[in-house]
Amino acid sequence: MNYRRCGKSGIRLPEISLGLWHNFGSVDVVENFRKILWRAFDKGITHFDLANNYGPLPGSAEENFGIILKKDFSNLRDEMIISTKAGWEMWPGPYGNFGSRKYLLSSLDQSLKRMNLEYVDIFYSHRPDPETPLEETMGALAQAVYQGKALYAGISSYPADLTKRAVEILKEMHVNCLIHQPKYSMFNRWVENGLLDVLKETGIGCIPFSPLEQGLLTEKYLKGIPVDSRAYKPHGFLKIEDVTAERISKAKRLNEIAAERNQSLSQMAIAWLLKDARVTSVLIGVSSVDQLDDNLKALNNLNFSGEELKKIDYILNEK
Ligand SMILES: NC(=O)c1ccc[n+]([C@@H]2O[C@H](COP(=O)([O-])OP(=O)(O)OC[C@H]3O[C@@H](n4cnc5c(N)ncnc54)[C@H](OP(=O)(O)O)[C@@H]3O)[C@@H](O)[C@H]2O)c1
Repeated sequence: MNYRRCGKSGIRLPEISLGLWHNFGSVDVVENFRKILWRAFDKGITHFDLANNYGPLPGSAEENFGIILKKDFSNLRDEMIISTKAGWEMWPGPYGNFGSRKYLLSSLDQSLKRMNLEYVDIFYSHRPDPETPLEETMGALAQAVYQGKALYAGISSYPADLTKRAVEILKEMHVNCLIHQPKYSMFNRWVENGLLDVLKETGIGCIPFSPLEQGLLTEKYLKGIPVDSRAYKPHGFLKIEDVTAERISKAKRLNEIAAERNQSLSQMAIAWLLKDARVTSVLIGVSSVDQLDDNLKALNNLNFSGEELKKIDYILNEK
């Protein structure tokens, strides 16, 4: 594993990090995700990404992670970077959603309890809140850092202009924004339109989520929708209607380029993100140890020729 510096901070993150959004909830198989966590750590994945609502049931991924941490990793806490977030709906009523100080700080307390931790390494505002003043949301992140309940602050899915402002506000509160977590993959390139430049300018790390487009940029759906897939499962965020003929046709052609590079499609999709030095770490999800092993091999070849990049762009831009 290589570790890349996260913006201008003291932290280095593994080029591949593991997210627990799917496959670690109360509906999933403990022995499977326990093995995934072990393999990940053994392979140098030191960063594990959670959020208050990961499951289903919401909160169960944090609970499960907490149990495994206690059982298997109790003496390894200082070797791990653990993150959590608040910003999407978590509990009923007006205080369990979006970006108020009330929501963020009580949610962080709940997350720490569920994971049985004294602190998380990164606490994120999970999404921008159009109605709460940015000063209030950033103030809550700063407060979490002052209290020692989080070592660093992060933001997720903030557009470029709001990111700039959020970073300034945090700075005024003497807290550096460590990292931004945007959706970014070959199928979703919005960050190339200004956000990556802002992150570079302001010295903030970038950890793209859903780099495999929830499985669409893997070989999983090339021959139909398997029953053991996120799209097929009723609780999966990827819906059957998201598996469109257009996306599968593009994935098949990208797969041909991947094969020429001696990579699987998922390996190429990860490498394609890591070719950019502004990307600190790629945040993958997996439902098995085999998928994890497959994806880790992406790190064997992160270089693309100009010709390969042109061919990929051509496929991605085609209407
Ligand atoms: N900040 C945010 O708002 C936000 C939003 C979403 C996600 N995230 C974070 O990003 C993490 C990753 O998101 P994601 O799970 O959507 O990422 P992803 O890496 O795009 O998709 C993961 C899924 O792709 C399939 N897959 C992975 N490797 C494969 C392989 N080698 N061969 C075949 N299929 C493979 C698996 O699907 P199957 O399960 O069908 O096997 C796996 O569950 C999350 O866990 C979370 O931490 C953050």
